[in-house]
Amino acid sequence: AGRKVVATRKLLPASQERLEQQGFELIQWPKDSSMPRDTLLKDIKGAEGLICMLSDKIDKQVFEAAGPGLKVVSTMSVGYDHIDLKAAKENNVKIGYTPDVLTDATADLTVLLTLAAARKMKSGVRAAETGEWREWRPDWLCGYQFKGKTLGVVGIGRIGQAVASRLKAFGIDRVVYWGRSEKPELKESLNADFVSFDELTASSDFIVACCALTPETKEVFNYKAFKNMKKNAIFVNTARGGVVDQDGLVKALQENLIAGAGLDVTTPEPLPTDHPLFKLGNCVILPHIGSATIEARETMGDMCVDNVLAALEDKEIPFVLKY
Ligand code: GLV
Ligand code: GLV
Repeated sequence: AGRKVVATRKLLPASQERLEQQGFELIQWPKDSSMPRDTLLKDIKGAEGLICMLSDKIDKQVFEAAGPGLKVVSTMSVGYDHIDLKAAKENNVKIGYTPDVLTDATADLTVLLTLAAARKMKSGVRAAETGEWREWRPDWLCGYQFKGKTLGVVGIGRIGQAVASRLKAFGIDRVVYWGRSEKPELKESLNADFVSFDELTASSDFIVACCALTPETKEVFNYKAFKNMKKNAIFVNTARGGVVDQDGLVKALQENLIAGAGLDVTTPEPLPTDHPLFKLGNCVILPHIGSATIEARETMGDMCVDNVLAALEDKEIPFVLKY
């Protein structure tokens, strides 16, 4: 058998061709679903490259099952919290990922959710569809505008900055952020101020989570954080479900401690359809589609293959995770 590359989902024909033309034996899950874990643990044995999705858990067991020949894990995502970096390092495996190309798509979706939650879109759509829409009413389904308001960004990386500049165009007056470190250049570009997490939650009208899921950000948005927010606050999460203590969010929304939420990510994914969050009119939920534009996803697929091919040819990986 030739040198083996495993993909946890069926690749686009053009991507398959690129790998096969280079003489690699491509093992991929043939169905329109992701490769079951037991199949992955079996197929990965002896592989040199792995193409995975953010929904695959790439832990110690996977690296051990692969054996010493595995050179690269190439994930079709900017997030990498699904990969055990300690185990990757111990096994001397490089990580390729897909930064930048999904920044615009994800920032657009973050704006969509912020607007949707601020303008009560879920209740409005429901009302229109169910006949609850009886007449024009001056005080019905009134939400909040952006002009003169404060935006709080938790995790002001590429995506967070793109969200802030978009929302400034809607009239946001002040941008504050919290994260690992102060970024003085953001004073110039966005007039953004670094504040404590408590100050951010207390002073922002719109709070967006655009951070990586790390030990520092895990469940930072808990009941206490929501309680600290303004009553009119809109909370949006397009990062990872794990940055939110979801029971705390449910309670905060049920008690109207905040005005609404927009979530593209949840715990777990998919979120069971009978979950209390779905029952709340003030919570809009999308099925983790932040990067889902044709443009972003096509490029992400190409980058994944570029990353694997470079690693297997012992060239510099174009989009390598420095860890
Ligand atoms: C999406 O969530 C990504 O990490 O690419
Ligand atoms: C990652 O979260 C980014 O901002 O690109």
